[in-house]
Amino acid sequence: MSEKICVLTGAGISAESGIKTFRDANGLWEGHDVMKVASPQGWNDDSQLVLDFYNQRRRQLLSVDVNQGHLDVASLDHNYDTIVITQNVDDLHERAGSKKVIHLHGELMKVRSSGDPNYILEWKKDLKKGDKCPSGFQLRPHIVWFGEEVPLLPLAISHITNASAIIIIGTSMQVYPAASLTAYAPKSIPIIYVDPNPSINYELGQLRNLKIIRGNATTHTKKAIELLKNYRF
Ligand code: APR
Repeated sequence: MSEKICVLTGAGISAESGIKTFRDANGLWEGHDVMKVASPQGWNDDSQLVLDFYNQRRRQLLSVDVNQGHLDVASLDHNYDTIVITQNVDDLHERAGSKKVIHLHGELMKVRSSGDPNYILEWKKDLKKGDKCPSGFQLRPHIVWFGEEVPLLPLAISHITNASAIIIIGTSMQVYPAASLTAYAPKSIPIIYVDPNPSINYELGQLRNLKIIRGNATTHTKKAIELLKNYRF
């Protein structure tokens, strides 16, 4: 199992589980003001609105199941040293069985102290005003908001720089720094992008060995895996 496969996922892989993407027609950001619900400024201005938004997301997540796309990604663990680097805050990769998952943008099923970033708890119920850490700070969603640092970025980069291949699934590759990760990949490795409506950002445009598979995650992730099987590393 020497080949390291990095799988970079976004909202599209969870779309067929019933979780809305962000930027598609009728996406989540169409009905919400991003800066009000997903920024430190929004939290300072109206923390109740932010809590309500994530409580709704958390309840919805508890009501959905993994799909074939998540299961196909998890199956890679049998044959490769696989790292899933996801922008998703859902836990569907873990539920599908993926063993190594890096959540670049945080995790919906966790909360953390607003005064101590290292105080993190598993959290399945609604989060309320007055739910505090032992030091008395309000707990907040364990989500990387717009304008915040991405603490797991260096770890993700270190895996990408050692990757033997990358599969990208269901992301518009528009949100940086996640969208720039392929720039750190070794130049010669295969990079396969599965998406019904792929967007080629600057970094993807620089790749000579980019293979695009147009299609949904549930049906087309396995095609990407087939390509890997036939590839001579
Ligand atoms: N299968 C695969 N891909 C799909 C499917 C599907 N069934 N349905 C839609 N997609 C694709 C879309 O074509 C699009 O390219 O999923 C992508 C979703 O893009 P975005 O909504 O921009 O989601 P994402 O790329 O994950 O966004 C990144 O933006 O607001 C933030 O923090 C949020 O992590 C998120 C980040």
